[in-house]
Amino acid sequence: YSEDDKSEDYLFKIVLIGDSAVGKSNLLARFARDEFYPNSKSTIGVEFQTQKMDINGKEIKAQIWDTAGQERFRAVTSAYYRGAVGALLVYDISRRQTFHSIGRWLNELHTHSDMNVVTILVGNKSDLKDLREVSTAEGKALAEAQGLFFMETSALDSSNVAAAFETVVKEIY
Ligand code: GTP
Ligand code: MG
Repeated sequence: YSEDDKSEDYLFKIVLIGDSAVGKSNLLARFARDEFYPNSKSTIGVEFQTQKMDINGKEIKAQIWDTAGQERFRAVTSAYYRGAVGALLVYDISRRQTFHSIGRWLNELHTHSDMNVVTILVGNKSDLKDLREVSTAEGKALAEAQGLFFMETSALDSSNVAAAFETVVKEIY
């Protein structure tokens, strides 16, 4: 096969959701480009990146969508979720409010997409050890109760970023 034949095999749409400033755009920047922005601005509208991944020797393209956590900057909700087969539901371990919002995001996800969309709960900013407001055990417990995968990540120091995306893609595949 040529490279082209291989790369068209699988294309999975994955959405990033969660409150503003939890680090959605930086998780995507770290994963897709190995970049980090210490002073990034709020996303306006929708952005997406297509990332090639190698899963068990197969080339898979993950089309990862990113929008604003803040309602006034968001894209049309139904279009954002349409066709999604995976989701990263992100909170910030240093801001409990963002963890409280997870229930609302989960409702929105289930309203606008298939019930069996593969979802991982992501506690981002694990590098902020001294500022932690949500324990790992709490994150794990919520994920178990809701039937979600779970991981703590840091877009700043890269820990678990690729692993979080790979967990979702492997389960879809
Ligand atoms: P919206 O687009 O408004 O929904 O926000 P967002 O979820 O995309 O957040 P964004 O990626 O823009 O990050 C918000 C702020 O948190 C930025 O200042 C980032 O540099 C910072 N940030 C993101 N990830 C991490 C992380 O893992 N650790 C630390 N310490 N800071 C982070
Ligand atoms: Mg953003």
